[in-house]
Amino acid sequence: MFITFEGIEGTGKTTQITKVKNYFESIGREVFLTLEPGGSRIGKELRRMLLHVDNKDIAPSTELFLYLADRAQHIAQVIRPELEAGKVVLCDRFADSTVVYQGYGRGLDTKTLQQLNEVAVDGLWPNLTILLDIDPELGLKRATLRNIEEGKAKEEGRFEAEHISFHRRIRDGYLTWAALNKDRIKIANADATPDEVFERIKSIIDAKLADS
Ligand code: TYD
Repeated sequence: MFITFEGIEGTGKTTQITKVKNYFESIGREVFLTLEPGGSRIGKELRRMLLHVDNKDIAPSTELFLYLADRAQHIAQVIRPELEAGKVVLCDRFADSTVVYQGYGRGLDTKTLQQLNEVAVDGLWPNLTILLDIDPELGLKRATLRNIEEGKAKEEGRFEAEHISFHRRIRDGYLTWAALNKDRIKIANADATPDEVFERIKSIIDAKLADS
């Protein structure tokens, strides 16, 4: 089973993915955790280029092709082999991030983006995508605090430095895109304690496990 996690900054995605990993292990499944950008060896180099604060001058289409390159490599070298080995693959961000950030966020055509995603994904779409949804002001506050605490404000601060209106577009974009992909993308409200949010996610996963 292939599950991806999406959402704006500061939804608590990382915390929830760890909880989901523990849950699958508790029911006897082997789990492989990964992320985008940066889930493969080559992808780690692409991630550094994409997120560094000195690369603010990146053109929207350059950014797009780097994310797609990261995904193509990730699918070929990591995700497909891990799924074939029978593991549950949990991925922090995937193709929907491209449609939402580069499309609804940066203004590239979402239909074209989805076609390019098809090339990168090579037939391997997630069985389930969990969208953690939160008010952008709250999410941004959480993300900025986390970056300061972890001393990563410079290396990974490029997105957090974007204006709040960009984050609002992203949040609305996610909700629009989720409505267009209801069968695969399920929304979990992330404005609650980590345990409460996890209960919401767990019921989505249990429903998926029951009908697969
Ligand atoms: P990261 O530090 O992993 O953010 P988060 O902790 O919020 O997941 O940075 C990833 C950033 O890259 C995030 O702001 C979204 C962006 N992104 C895109 O713009 N397009 C994409 O296709 C992907 C995968 C990520």
